[in-house]
Amino acid sequence: MKNKFLSFVFSEKVHWRHYFGGLSLLLIILQLLTGIFLIFFYDPTLDNAYKSVQHLTNEVTGGSLLRNIHRWAVFLLFLTVLIHTIRCTLRWDFFNPAKRVLWLTGILLLLPMFLLVVTGLILPWEWKGYWFMEIIPNYFEFIPRIGNSLKSFFIDSFTLPRYQVIHILILPIVTLILIDYHFLDKLRQRGVFTYILRHALLSLPFLIAVIVLSKYVTIPSNDPQEIPLPLDGRYIPAPEWYFLILLLPLLYFKGKLVLILSILLPSLLFMVLSILPYLYRGRKVPEGWDFLKKSRFRKPIKGVMVFLIFIAVVALIYRGSYKSPTLGCNGCHHLNNGFRMGVVPKQFKDRNALPNLNDNLWMMGHWFYPDEIY
Ligand code: HEC
Repeated sequence: MKNKFLSFVFSEKVHWRHYFGGLSLLLIILQLLTGIFLIFFYDPTLDNAYKSVQHLTNEVTGGSLLRNIHRWAVFLLFLTVLIHTIRCTLRWDFFNPAKRVLWLTGILLLLPMFLLVVTGLILPWEWKGYWFMEIIPNYFEFIPRIGNSLKSFFIDSFTLPRYQVIHILILPIVTLILIDYHFLDKLRQRGVFTYILRHALLSLPFLIAVIVLSKYVTIPSNDPQEIPLPLDGRYIPAPEWYFLILLLPLLYFKGKLVLILSILLPSLLFMVLSILPYLYRGRKVPEGWDFLKKSRFRKPIKGVMVFLIFIAVVALIYRGSYKSPTLGCNGCHHLNNGFRMGVVPKQFKDRNALPNLNDNLWMMGHWFYPDEIY
């Protein structure tokens, strides 16, 4: 019985190489479940959004845990999707005509996932959410010609209910449709429950990690009674990090370089990845590319390569963002420091009334070194 059980869990079908895709699926299911719970407590109005989030976190049983799981699971999801993508790329999956749909839907999935994080960051509508809502449009202004209209469009059209609908309805539907094409067909043939059970057991260490992180590294929500320190959250990885790396050029460069580094390069990478299978349509993997073909150590070497590239990307993000005091915003922005500091200002969209919001350098500096900038 025991052996049967072990061979079921550790069968060939759940090798680590195709394990991270499955783990990502489980994390997405976890997001769906915790997200449904959050819907019941969130009030998408400017005055009550943060209050409702605080109520959920401080007063509802299990609220803090579920909210923090919803946040930390994204972080792990980012890591698993990254490993999964690197591995499929290094396996040259885009040369395989049978995997064309798999590849394309996989790449396309990155987009709704990314937008889910953006909208998810804004919704709590504390100062962090407000900051993101203001700086993301700023980032479009570097695009020639259409940039300014795009920027005004995103600022003018912003309302919490709209972003909530996008976050809880539109993006999840797009994600699920893409996942269906990506994977669910194959999953149904293999047996959904067997698959989920196998992966759930193997994913147990990750799920435990999510729960431990969610229990001990929580988002401060007790202000103004209990106030975090202004520099809290430095060196602590958080979902905010991936954006900060994209926005970092706003801190160090001006004009064209911002355009190239944080808009053109990522879009280009995304487009190139999407069209790779069509670019190499009908061709075989070139000789030189499969240099490990004859080696006995092909699999371990590839494993190490995947791991090294993964570490390099994560190190870059860590390097760019580890100083950001992600949890400390409420250290100054709370009601005890005056109404103006406690509540997001009513004129928040008005760049004439709040000129700092137009100043990217100030905005970025205020995120990374709030104690020095203000
Ligand atoms: C050390 C105290 C301090 C910390 C920590 C702090 N801020 Fe501020 N912040 C201020 C002060 C003071 C102002 C007002 C500046 C002004 O009136 O021009 C301000 C202004 C802002 C503004 C500009 C718009 C406005 O309405 O005035 C934004 C956005 C903002 N903070 C977001 C954040 C975020 C996000 C964080 C966390 C990463 C953060 N702040 C952390 C002190 C702080």
